[in-house]
Amino acid sequence: MEGFALNVKYAVIRCAHLENDKLRMKKHTQQIKDSFDRRIDYLRISITDRCNLKCFYCRPDKKIKYYDKGEVLKDDEIVRIVRIAHKYGVRKVRLTGGEPLMRKNILRLISSLKETGIHELGLTTNGIKLSEHALDLKRAGLDRVNISLDTMDAEKYKQITNGGDISLVLKSIKASEKAGLTPVKINTVPISGLNDNEIESFASLTFKHNYHIRFIEFMPATCGNVWEKSKCVKSSEVLKIISKLGDLEQMKFRGKGPSRNYRLKGAAGVVGIISPISDHFCDHCNRLRLTAVGKIRPCLFSKEEVDLKTPMRRGASDADIESLFCHAIQIKPKGHDINKGLVDQIDTMSKIGG
Ligand code: 5AD
Repeated sequence: MEGFALNVKYAVIRCAHLENDKLRMKKHTQQIKDSFDRRIDYLRISITDRCNLKCFYCRPDKKIKYYDKGEVLKDDEIVRIVRIAHKYGVRKVRLTGGEPLMRKNILRLISSLKETGIHELGLTTNGIKLSEHALDLKRAGLDRVNISLDTMDAEKYKQITNGGDISLVLKSIKASEKAGLTPVKINTVPISGLNDNEIESFASLTFKHNYHIRFIEFMPATCGNVWEKSKCVKSSEVLKIISKLGDLEQMKFRGKGPSRNYRLKGAAGVVGIISPISDHFCDHCNRLRLTAVGKIRPCLFSKEEVDLKTPMRRGASDADIESLFCHAIQIKPKGHDINKGLVDQIDTMSKIGG
């Protein structure tokens, strides 16, 4: 308890200079900036570390231990943190995992989260269970979905995911469109020699469909020793391949979020390029992560975290948690040097939250 009290005291001191800013803000939400003048308005929350797939780069090993149920944040704890985050200017929340649809009572959680006043609520899913729930999720208040899909070949999908059935994902894409969870975003991680021959086919989907196909550079956030720099297909390479399909019109550059967006001439949808390795976007980073076990992680590539769960379970007041939340914003580092190889491999995304 003493450690916790010190922690809070420290955070309160760090937060003190925010008070003036706060007074200028609207009564209910107080948009604050981090130490590098970045506005933090986006929180990604891992609501479970469990997953129903075993993708070779994420969670291949059956022996990796899941957190015990009691370790993972409960619904009311997540809602409490989001209420506080909203008060300090977070407008957008994304639920991730693991696979977020593995969490029980997710519909109830989503409607409670929406009631906090959060402007935009998204979900990143592997799409295996999504088709069953798309309409209910929309009705509960979910705004949109990102679906992970690294290949369109059924056999290769099985191989990448260790047995997954691609037809369920394709069904989910359709069901999401129908339910209005739009625009449907599809996340693809191009990996040399594995699926880089499908970049054109993925981008071509945008001609007919209003999908956002987002190519994410392969990051050293993996399990085991599967990451090598040579396996990461750089965004410049992806763009070169896509531009063979037609003229690429660049859309608003980095409005919000890390994606550089393009539209192929005449296309209905959008192609997004996310370059954490070759052109990282730290100067524009607007996000924090909350891990499944209740720690705020200000930067994906820094192991520094601020524990909110322990103080909450020891009876901390909202003011205490607010101080810790502000502290997490203030310690967000200026950037990372993952592209220079100066950062160790970090934990797999299934532990931190994808
Ligand atoms: N590099 C890039 N993207 C990754 N994802 C998971 N691990 C990595 C990695 N090492 C992506 C998934 C999914 C999202 C949650 O994170 O493909 O779309």
